[in-house]
Amino acid sequence: MRRKLVADVSHDLRTPIASLRLLVEAVDDEVVDEETRRRYLATMRTHISSLSTMIDDLFELSRLEAGEIDWSMRQVELALLVDETVAAMRPEARARHVDLTAQLGDEPLSAHADPERIQRVLFNLIRNAIHHTPADGSVTVRAEAGPDAIEVEVADTGEGIPAADRSAVFEPFNRGADSARSGDGAGLGLAISRAIVETHGGRIWIAPAETGTRVRFSLPVR
Ligand SMILES: Nc1ncnc2c1ncn2[C@@H]1O[C@H](COP(=O)(O)OP(=O)(O)O)[C@@H](O)[C@H]1O
Ligand SMILES: [Mg+2]
Repeated sequence: MRRKLVADVSHDLRTPIASLRLLVEAVDDEVVDEETRRRYLATMRTHISSLSTMIDDLFELSRLEAGEIDWSMRQVELALLVDETVAAMRPEARARHVDLTAQLGDEPLSAHADPERIQRVLFNLIRNAIHHTPADGSVTVRAEAGPDAIEVEVADTGEGIPAADRSAVFEPFNRGADSARSGDGAGLGLAISRAIVETHGGRIWIAPAETGTRVRFSLPVR
């Protein structure tokens, strides 16, 4: 495995583990009252779930990069897949007061793809967009057919990605200006999405935007 990746993984594991160690000691301390103990336990659960997401994502990324995944490729109607994914994520958007919509024409958008994996890409991009968009903002998913490829776009009205970071965000563990944060994501979502799209023979990139972020990807029609 690449040296930098190992260093990043070690760093990202160390922080929540150090925190878990302290929390275990605190819970073990007899003077801690019941309510505090419960709070500590909730924090421990959060750390454990982010650690396990990170391990799952790392495993997925390494299998993708090693070509160890069985693909179920077929002709997929992307408009349906987009509609379905947007509907599934609407509650998450609504909880953050973000308006999530799909804008699709009437043309068929058939691509040669593995529907589950492409849904995973859509899910990653939409989740990022929702999480980087302040309340009352919007996230719009568009898809259109070109001559050889379908292009899908997830656009949001959030803070955007500085031009200098537009290719780096696809590298594993790159969290841009958020890198100090110990929140939900480990910075693997876009790396996984890129590996999936490129295995399909497509491309993924950050398109220029006046405000917010536009992430686009292409998929071959057949
Ligand atoms: N829609 C977006 N708006 C602003 N920044 C974004 C957006 N999507 C991704 N990013 C930036 O790219 C980084 C990498 O994204 P990702 O690989 O999904 O990792 P994670 O979501 O775990 O941080 C994010 O940490 C963030 O800095
Ligand atoms: Mg993400």
